[in-house]
Amino acid sequence: MAARGVGLLARLPLCAQRRSRVQRPSCRLLCCPGTVAEDLQREEPLSGSAETGSEDKTSKKRFFEVQKERREQAQRTVLIHCPNKISEKKFLKYLSHHGPINNHFFYESFGLYAVVEFCQKESISSLQNGTRTPSMGMEAAIPFRSRFFNLKLKNPSNQTSEKSCVQSSDQLPPSSKKLFELLYYAESVDDQVNTLLKEFELTEENTRLRYLTCSLIEDIAAAYFPDCIVRPFGSSVNTFGKLGCDLDMFLDLDEIGKLGTHKSSGNFLMEFQVKNVPSERVATQKILSVIGECLDHFGPGCVGVQKILNARCPLVRFSHQPSGFQCDLTTNNRIALKSSELLYIYGALDSRVRALVFSIRCWARAHSLTSSIPGAWITNFSLTMMVIFFLQRRSPPILPTLDLLKTLADAEDKCIIEGNNCTFIRDLNRIKPSGNTETLELLLKEFFEYFGNFTFNKNSINIRQGREQNKPDSSPLHIQNPFETSLNISKNVSQSQLQKFVELARESAWILQREDQDRPSSSSNQPWGLAALLLPSIAKSKSPSKNKKEKLSSERIKNLLESIKSNRTENPTDTNGKRTISSQT
Ligand code: CTP
Ligand code: MG
Repeated sequence: MAARGVGLLARLPLCAQRRSRVQRPSCRLLCCPGTVAEDLQREEPLSGSAETGSEDKTSKKRFFEVQKERREQAQRTVLIHCPNKISEKKFLKYLSHHGPINNHFFYESFGLYAVVEFCQKESISSLQNGTRTPSMGMEAAIPFRSRFFNLKLKNPSNQTSEKSCVQSSDQLPPSSKKLFELLYYAESVDDQVNTLLKEFELTEENTRLRYLTCSLIEDIAAAYFPDCIVRPFGSSVNTFGKLGCDLDMFLDLDEIGKLGTHKSSGNFLMEFQVKNVPSERVATQKILSVIGECLDHFGPGCVGVQKILNARCPLVRFSHQPSGFQCDLTTNNRIALKSSELLYIYGALDSRVRALVFSIRCWARAHSLTSSIPGAWITNFSLTMMVIFFLQRRSPPILPTLDLLKTLADAEDKCIIEGNNCTFIRDLNRIKPSGNTETLELLLKEFFEYFGNFTFNKNSINIRQGREQNKPDSSPLHIQNPFETSLNISKNVSQSQLQKFVELARESAWILQREDQDRPSSSSNQPWGLAALLLPSIAKSKSPSKNKKEKLSSERIKNLLESIKSNRTENPTDTNGKRTISSQT
């Protein structure tokens, strides 16, 4: 496909001309000078996600290996609220009295925070032993000793003149102006889709912070259940998470049940005396109720705790203030963890999968098809299933069906949870890559065409078989849960929300189709390709005539262009003081 925006490009400085390879600004990276930093920079990210835009030939880690490593890493990590002006060198020197540091980074979220990973777990008890509980003056402190600390300067007046030399990592997605700018200067729709992925995917630091948050919550739950595990699941771990997504976690008590089973030799069998309750559900409600109270009363940084115990899947919802994550805590949600593993596999099989899912997720968010508030809207999880299903339907298929992944499984992969067969091959390296070479541009267009014309009133979406099936009930949108096959993951979606999705999909297909035939010229300064799809919707006006559609579309394009122009003149430097793209017109 032809290079885009050449007219403007020719007038840009060389650094800006490399725009299509735009990387994250360096402020997103860790800043760790000295020996600690050298170790850090050699470290490979653990995420195990596929490279975008090129096939990753290296051996890919299994999901549970990534989980284990991340969890172990988080257990050696502490979170420290720091004074705004701090010398990084002195800070690291001070902490290294407790043991060698493997990795660290700073971030800002209503204050400066440091995430510090020690090489050994023992360093944490050493640090805790040298830490005091604050005296609160009029208030009283609950003396809970966690891994979340507050660092104070002994003599602030001496150090306020000291220049802070800390660079913090960015935990936020790009502003829409910045995003539109990046998309505008991309070379092709494929380039745009990959750029969007790079800008929105979870960073290494954000992923570390998610596992650390689970680990901190685990410490609190461990007061009652010493061998429990708090496991993250959903988009925080399945490689489809956008910066800012919620943190889903569950309290895994299964491991506790397994402990002690091998010691039952001899004539006797010892059991714990326990309280009995009428059902698993009641047990879950009681456990979550107490953990919720604990988080509320003793959990440093846990605020706005809500116990939602009458939901189908009872949960405790809260904000973890220092990380900024909205957290949902459930119990024994192993099936959801298994579906996270399945998505992790699909995301790693082909570099186009995550790229396409991120574009569709951003498109849906831009048009308010999805929301952070629960309701009759389609969810990101459902959208991901739709993309997977669509990619299974290509010829040749880009993704295998779940049934095929099941036939490739060996004895070790066998997994039955609560009577549901959740077996599939877990070793990514044994799945043959697809021979399909379709471009992201084509796939994006065809996705909208496919679902703009899908017979939602008759058929259900089923990634297990990779083909449409008759809907078993009358819900407007039916997407079969891959493991609990009697459940519809989009049961909440109303007819009007589905209709809105269909209209927007048709409109988007139409915009891409029109561009194909009548591409805006490179000097027209119009948002194009993916950027044109992310503009505010016109679908609200019911079935606009073609002329009206074109007029409205060009109006919103004009508005957006104005905002890009004004942004460029208003804000020629980014937050790091680096020059951003300038039109120099
Ligand atoms: N889940 C499910 N059935 C549903 C909804 C959710 O099995 N009807 C499981 C999925 O494994 C999903 C996880 O619960 O990934 C978390 O749900 P949710 O937070 O809604 O979706 P995410 O995939 O985490 O996406 P988002 O980024 O929007 O949080
Ligand atoms: Mg989630």
